[in-house]
Amino acid sequence: MNRPLMLRVQLAAAALAAAAGLAVCPARADEPIVIKFSHVVAANTPKGRAAERFKQLAEERTKGRVKVEVYPNSTLYKDKEELEALQLGSVQMLAPSLAKFGPLGVKQFEVFDIPYMFPTAEFLERIEEGPVGKKLMASLESKGITGLAFWDNGFKVFSANRPLNVPGDLKGVKMRIQSSKVLEAEMRALDAIPQVMAFGDVYQGLQTGVVDGTENPWSNMYTQKMHEVQKYAVDTYHGYLGYAVIVNSKFWNGLPADIRTTLEGAMKDATTYDHEIARKDNDEAMAAIEKSGRTQVIHLTPQQREAWIKVLTPVRNEVAGRVGSDIIDQIVREQSAAKH
Ligand code: LMR
Repeated sequence: MNRPLMLRVQLAAAALAAAAGLAVCPARADEPIVIKFSHVVAANTPKGRAAERFKQLAEERTKGRVKVEVYPNSTLYKDKEELEALQLGSVQMLAPSLAKFGPLGVKQFEVFDIPYMFPTAEFLERIEEGPVGKKLMASLESKGITGLAFWDNGFKVFSANRPLNVPGDLKGVKMRIQSSKVLEAEMRALDAIPQVMAFGDVYQGLQTGVVDGTENPWSNMYTQKMHEVQKYAVDTYHGYLGYAVIVNSKFWNGLPADIRTTLEGAMKDATTYDHEIARKDNDEAMAAIEKSGRTQVIHLTPQQREAWIKVLTPVRNEVAGRVGSDIIDQIVREQSAAKH
């Protein structure tokens, strides 16, 4: 069966099951509650490893009353499909990147895509744990989605098949992006040609020349083998890639209270683990890419990085109308408070 058709069949089956009240409760009291956790990256990435940690903790601490099935690498659903599947209850848990919430109608999440907005991962965590993060998660409720945690990956670099020393080097280059209008504006600021593509299609897209370049943290680039089909990468660290771990609200609210509390604890610990491993995973992936000799990594001097900052900073004002100037101002205020 082809994939879209298979998805439609699965979604229809899930809708029927949900209507019959089967979405949450197992058929028999001694059967475990199953949480299908679908994601699009490799298992050996910060997100993949944190998902496995959540599974392990959830199963141990509920003494088998909950079974978590993790489906990595787009094996179950790709980007757009997985959000539809979550809303319909065919999967219970996802961790999409924050750049993928715009099509759901919660455009404010794209604030995390603004180039050079967040100086460090620590500052990002403060924003995510604080009022901005709480407000964003609350905005998901009207979509039937509950936000449980923010997970980190890291800062992105550009890659292409031509040397990327200065921003002008991306002029005219077809660049794959996630489905975010802010990322579209970012690419246009570089005179590049943005093209939205599901993560699971990027390797092939680069290999066949449908796109010529992309942006990723090192861990995604390496684990998807994109370094085999990209000759250059430049350590601009211009933007952030993080995730919101989300669940189908109906499923979550229908869980027995003790189970939900235990799962919340498991999620908290998996989140701490994700934050601990993210930077190291990316550093190791960069070293592995350099060692492979397939992609030449261009390391910018602080002066060279200034040129990228200069070209990309105006994107912030351009997208203020879309993501909300209130949220941008709040982040800027928190940043200046953190400095003093
Ligand atoms: C991407 O599509 O580039 C990323 O969102 C993939 C991921 O989940 O890290």
